[in-house]
Amino acid sequence: MSKPRLEGKVALITGAASGIGEQAVRLFIEHGACVVAADVQDELGERVVNSINGNKVVYHHCDVRDEKQVEQTVNFTVEKFGKLDILFSNAGILGPLTGILDLDISGLDNTMATNVRGVAATIKHAARAMVAKNIRGSIICTASVASSVGGTGPHAYTASKHAIVGLVRTACGELGHYGIRVNCVSPFGVGTPMSCDAYNMKPSEVEQNCSNLGNLKGVALKAKDIAESALFLASDESGYISGHNLVVDGGYTVVKNG
Ligand SMILES: NC(=O)c1ccc[n+]([C@@H]2O[C@H](COP(=O)([O-])OP(=O)(O)OC[C@H]3O[C@@H](n4cnc5c(N)ncnc54)[C@H](O)[C@@H]3O)[C@@H](O)[C@H]2O)c1
Repeated sequence: MSKPRLEGKVALITGAASGIGEQAVRLFIEHGACVVAADVQDELGERVVNSINGNKVVYHHCDVRDEKQVEQTVNFTVEKFGKLDILFSNAGILGPLTGILDLDISGLDNTMATNVRGVAATIKHAARAMVAKNIRGSIICTASVASSVGGTGPHAYTASKHAIVGLVRTACGELGHYGIRVNCVSPFGVGTPMSCDAYNMKPSEVEQNCSNLGNLKGVALKAKDIAESALFLASDESGYISGHNLVVDGGYTVVKNG
């Protein structure tokens, strides 16, 4: 492996029990970070951290919809590892899949509570911890191609992912004064439990579907690719990048399809 890129850094990752978050836990550890892996799927989260050798990774329960749990998880991270350098605010749900004519408004509320309020709460408390210790940290949020193009995801999801980009931009403005960078990463379709369960497909079927729809042929987007993008934004290699929406879509959102 090349030189570890997160040596001496402490990271908090939400949505860490599965998919993109799980891959980020593994990659950040590989690159020398200490990691708190937070999720609501406790058994799965514990299994992920127990599969990794060493004492630099720990699981912590956190429902990002509950600000108290978010604050407590950030405090836990600082108590456990002494500081917080990196937040990967990645937890998210797809929400209701119906058309707008049948939209379940309480489902929309829950999608917003997870994808927007959850991200806002994690930015708030992570940034407080960084500011308190004078840490020039990096905050990365997971948005989606649905953050920039309509029709690439369900309605509540698309609204929530657009909101994340707005939040990232406005937080970037304020936190820049403290030397804290705020960015998002926006994946195209990946065969994780979120997409597989929603569309009742195997990972290989999601990949095939995305490959058919996508612009860049002959390659399937994997959760690990998104973790690599988050690693770049977390590391000093992206030291002057802030307020950016790093779209990882093989060109899908900038090329006319069909
Ligand atoms: N899979 C895709 O095609 C795709 C595409 C674009 C963006 N994304 C985004 O990537 C992120 C990760 O999703 P994934 O594809 O890895 O799916 P996933 O279902 O494998 O992982 C999401 C994780 O978030 C956790 N989570 C859900 N609600 C939570 C809550 N309230 N508090 C804490 N954790 C919670 C889940 O338990 C799960 O472990 C999401 O924000 C998703 O919107 C995924």
